[in-house]
Amino acid sequence: MKPFLTYDDANMWSARVGSAGASVSELHAIEKDLKRSQQSIEKFRKSKSQGFFDVPFDNKIVSLITKQVARLKKQGVQHLVVIGIGGSDLGARTIWQALGDPKKGMWVTFVSNPDPEAVHGYTGAGTWWNHTALCVISKSGTTLETLSIFLTLRKGLIETVGEKKHKERVVVITEVGENPLHQLALENSYAILPHPENIGGRFSVLSVVGLFPAACGGVDIKKLLAGAKWVEQSRRTQGTKHAAIKFAALHYLALTQHNQPNHVLMPYAEWLGAFGMWFRQLWAESLGKDRQGPTPIAGLGPTDQHSQLQLYVDGPKDKVVTFLSVDTFRRHVNVPKFSDLPKSLSYLSGLDMESIMQAEKQGTEHALTKAGRPNGTLCMPSLTPEALGALFQFFMIATATLGELLGVDPYNQPGVEEGKRETKRLLTTLFHP
Ligand code: PA5
Repeated sequence: MKPFLTYDDANMWSARVGSAGASVSELHAIEKDLKRSQQSIEKFRKSKSQGFFDVPFDNKIVSLITKQVARLKKQGVQHLVVIGIGGSDLGARTIWQALGDPKKGMWVTFVSNPDPEAVHGYTGAGTWWNHTALCVISKSGTTLETLSIFLTLRKGLIETVGEKKHKERVVVITEVGENPLHQLALENSYAILPHPENIGGRFSVLSVVGLFPAACGGVDIKKLLAGAKWVEQSRRTQGTKHAAIKFAALHYLALTQHNQPNHVLMPYAEWLGAFGMWFRQLWAESLGKDRQGPTPIAGLGPTDQHSQLQLYVDGPKDKVVTFLSVDTFRRHVNVPKFSDLPKSLSYLSGLDMESIMQAEKQGTEHALTKAGRPNGTLCMPSLTPEALGALFQFFMIATATLGELLGVDPYNQPGVEEGKRETKRLLTTLFHP
C-alpha cells in the first residue's frame, strides 16, 4: 500500500545542519528511554486509560454518526453550526477546512469565541434557522464560552422553528453524567453523542467530536479513520523505529540537547492552515508542564516566507521547522500564457501553481538547511481523508511519546484550570452580583 504519510528527517541531523542537528550517538543514548516510553504507552492503551490509540478501530461510532447525519438531512438541514472551544473545536474545524464538501453534505460553521461582534451575526430569529441545526460540543459540559454561545443561539432557533421542533435540531456531544450540558440535553430530549470518557479534548478529533461535524460536512469519515488506523497499526509493529516516535525523539533532542524549544509547523497547503492551530494546542497544552515544554508555532507557506522566514533563517538558533507538504494538489491552476509579458516575467507564463508551491517549499528548506537550521518534512501524496487521518494520529502519538520522554502527563491541563476558576468568580461576583 502506498503510504498516506512519510517523514523525511534528513535535515534534522548534524550531517546536514552541523552542530544544531541531532547526532546518531544522541539518539542511541535515549534508545532505552524511547523503548520505555512505548512500553508505558502500550500499558496505558491496554488498560483503556487513554482511548485515542484505539479510536480508529471503532466501527460502531461510524454507524451512530451516519444515522444522526441522515436524520438531520431528512429534516432539510443544510447548515450545521458547531459550538465548542479548544479540543472541542479545533479538530473539527481542521477537517472542515481541509476536506469539507457542502455538495456532499452541509455547510458547516464554527463559533467558539464569545466575542459579541463574532456571535452577533448568529443571534435572533431568522429564516435561515429553518434549515440549520446546532451541534454543541463540550466534554465537561461546563465550559463557560461554549454554554453562553449555545444558550444565546438556541434562543434564535426556538423563536424561528418553535419549542417542539427545535429539540430535533440540536445535537449534544458531551460526557454522559451529572454535567449541566448533559442535564439540559436530557431535559430537552436532544440527540446525545457521548464524548468518550477516556479521551481528552485535544486528543478527541477522531472520536465523535471531530467525526460528527466532518460527516455533516460531507467528509468520508471511514477514510479518515482508515488513515489513522494505518499509522496506529504500524506504531504497534514498528516500535521505536516508527516515524512518529522518531519525530518525538528528534524534537526531544532539539529541546533538551540543542536549546531549540520553538517548534514551527509550516504547511505548504492553504487548506492545512487550521491544522497548525490544532497542532499548536496539542503540543502546548500537553507538553507545557512542570516549568518545561516546547513552544509550538503555527505557520503557513509560502505566506510566512514574507513574514517569519527572516527570523527562522537568520535569528536565534532556537527553532526546529516541520513542513507539511503534498505531492499532488487536488486542483490545477496555471498562470495564463501571455505573449506581451516583459522578458523578466516570461518564466511565469503558463506556469502551474503546484510547481510554484513545490519550488517555494524547496527553496525555504534549502535556505534553512544552508543556515544550519534543523527542518523536516511530513509529506502526503495528496490532501485526502486518509492522509489527514494519518496526520492526526501521527501527531497524537508523537505528543504522547514526547510527554513520556519529558516525564510529564500529556493528558491533563492543570495550568488552564486556575484561569477558568477566576473567570467564573468574576462573572458570578463582580459582573453579575
Ligand atoms: O484539550 C482540552 O482538554 C481542552 O482544550 C478542552 O478541549 C477545552 O477546554 C474545552 O473543554 P470542554 O470540551 O470540556 O468544553
